[in-house]
Amino acid sequence: MHVEVRQDFITEEEEKELLRELEPGLKKRRYEFNHWDDAIHGFRETEKLQWGSECTGVLARVRATAFPEGSPLLGPVHVLDLDKTGFIKPHVDSVKFCGSTIAGICLLSDSVMRLVREENSADWVDLLLSRRSLYILRDEARFKFTHEILKDEESYFSGQKVPRHRRISVICRNLPV
Ligand code: OGA
Ligand code: MN
Repeated sequence: MHVEVRQDFITEEEEKELLRELEPGLKKRRYEFNHWDDAIHGFRETEKLQWGSECTGVLARVRATAFPEGSPLLGPVHVLDLDKTGFIKPHVDSVKFCGSTIAGICLLSDSVMRLVREENSADWVDLLLSRRSLYILRDEARFKFTHEILKDEESYFSGQKVPRHRRISVICRNLPV
């Protein structure tokens, strides 16, 4: 399967623990809004290699769920903090730095991720990424479709408003072969 969303992949307790580890590092940075040509607006980010034991357990579960056994992973985990007004424009992750699979845990807010086939924009799908869900983009979904996170004003799923608050994603990627 090329796209997978697992609701409630982490517990409220695990979400708290991830936030407790992430907030001090994130708070030192400012949200960036300025670069009009960037894919991501209203964000701050960091990479994290060392985690406490509870978070290490969560990340091990992500890896076991999302990646083929033995697939070499990008060491540091990417942490992306979107402001309430922040959003991610359609893009495909660099094939130079990232392999076949992208797996993200969503903290603090529900959101809508849109996938659009690059060669035929009529072929698209919206994913409801609820708070504490895990999403996985593999192969075709990762390489042939752009992904984006809708801004609050455009954040609807099946006609229902999905309010976008501040949202943090914790993203694991594998290495290109
Ligand atoms: C990215 C990206 C998605 C997310 O950082 O390239 O697409 O869930 N992030 O934050
Ligand atoms: Mn991306």
